[in-house]
Amino acid sequence: TILVLDFGSQTSHLILRRLRALSVYAEMLPCTAKLAELPWKPKGIVLSGGPSSVYDEGSPHVDPAVFELGVPILGICYGCQEIAWQTNSENVARGTAREYGHADVTIHKVDSHADRLFAGLGETMHAYMSHFDKLVRLPEGFVVVAKTANSEFAGIAHQTKPIFGVQFHPELEHTPRGSELLRNFSVDICGAQPNWVMSDFVEQEITRIRKLVGDKAQVIGAVSGGVDSTVAAKLMTEAIGDRFKAVHIDNGLMRLNESKKVKETLKEHLGINLTVVDGTELFLERLKGITEPEKKRKIIGETFIDLFEKEAIRIEKEAENTPNAGKVSWFLQGTLYPDVIESLSFRGPSATIKTHHNVGGLPKRMMDGQGLRLLEPLRELFKDEVRNLGRRLKIHEDLVNRFPFPGPGIGVRILGECTPERIEIARKADHIFISMIKEAGIYNEISQAYAGLDTSKAVGVMGDTRVYGYIIILRAVTTSDFMSAEPYEFSFSLLKAIARRIVNEVDGVSRVTYDLSSKPPGTIELE
Ligand code: XMP
Repeated sequence: TILVLDFGSQTSHLILRRLRALSVYAEMLPCTAKLAELPWKPKGIVLSGGPSSVYDEGSPHVDPAVFELGVPILGICYGCQEIAWQTNSENVARGTAREYGHADVTIHKVDSHADRLFAGLGETMHAYMSHFDKLVRLPEGFVVVAKTANSEFAGIAHQTKPIFGVQFHPELEHTPRGSELLRNFSVDICGAQPNWVMSDFVEQEITRIRKLVGDKAQVIGAVSGGVDSTVAAKLMTEAIGDRFKAVHIDNGLMRLNESKKVKETLKEHLGINLTVVDGTELFLERLKGITEPEKKRKIIGETFIDLFEKEAIRIEKEAENTPNAGKVSWFLQGTLYPDVIESLSFRGPSATIKTHHNVGGLPKRMMDGQGLRLLEPLRELFKDEVRNLGRRLKIHEDLVNRFPFPGPGIGVRILGECTPERIEIARKADHIFISMIKEAGIYNEISQAYAGLDTSKAVGVMGDTRVYGYIIILRAVTTSDFMSAEPYEFSFSLLKAIARRIVNEVDGVSRVTYDLSSKPPGTIELE
């Protein structure tokens, strides 16, 4: 395992992804992690970039033990400056110009020890830079292995120890041969085995789950029908069969025919032991007259918990009354690595912009009350790895590739009160929109799309009569991380065709609009 120590750069997690794409297993911890507390010894350590300046008071620094461990170290950007600063605090200063964007890196040959990082990369390479601070002096004991027009020390290597630093970002796609550099470091210099594959993960995880749960205990978990919870549920079923009990709660705010499809796919195709609870009436009753977005989210979240708790108690009673059945003692949650990273960050989780109600988050009262322990089989994986895992588990491509759908469903896509009529209209419009995206063959170009509804009404003319109808808001975005997003550039004729069909086929709609806002400031959902 390679350990990545994170100084908070936006691209730190990409270092991990690049390494894993090379089949080298890597884990990330905050830069302040104490190595003595680590239960395993890394084969090598990468120090990431970060937004701070090493010489400022209060800036983050690594545990000095990192340099005494004797394993190879690679510093990237801030990480490189950290190496130089730890040698002598005068080695790093503010540059005269910000170096941002593409840079041509000239590679210098020194000797067989120092040249290992850039081995096979020729004499020059394109790289992506983003820094103000830079090394102003070569740290003692180091040699220069790469330069750019603006950075005399764009790549450094220690003369005798396996310590390296680069000012640019090899983890970005904008550094086309960056993966080769990371391979040189992790495989050739650190000696990490490039043998991490998804099939190993499935086997290891199934063995781990079986050991953890034992041969009697039962596990419950909520499934939404999205890719994460479906993959987690299928993995559990492979591991412990019917002792895993999945619960799907229909909150009445799902897409057209969604709950029926979840039942079909999970129960019939994937053989998951599933119970569907229809909560439509209770959810809509509690949402009556509620217009404030955060209040809507809160009600949906709490109602979900109430119904799930009731179901969990029922399952537990059933287990008590079944001879030889074990206790329900675990709760499955489809947490992914980005959530783990977020909560581990040395700066703490980022500020809450909206309260996310994630299917699966249970309140403490329920975990403690029923003595449930948390099981998170996907916590080491990124979204695209979860999709790959889904394919390995033979989950249908349509589901594996599906747009994300938020826990509160259509509830956050109707601006204002959710009434049955409005939900039905939004649902029908959404179905037409998504079907037409699929028919046009552009589903895979878009990261997420849906039709929402504005609850104010606009005038329309139908036949000879004046009508007042709702306004449909189409939203389609492209994004790689859902933190920022751009509106998708539809062909105008397709957009017009979509609008025409929605107005013609969905009663109660007088107009269709396309949301052109980027995120930020416009979030992906409407509320
Ligand atoms: P926003 O609207 O914050 O959405 O730009 C970013 C991504 O998160 C999804 N989302 C949610 N997912 N529960 C969820 O499970 C929620 O409450 C929730 N709110 C937003 C949204 O669909 C998008 O993919």
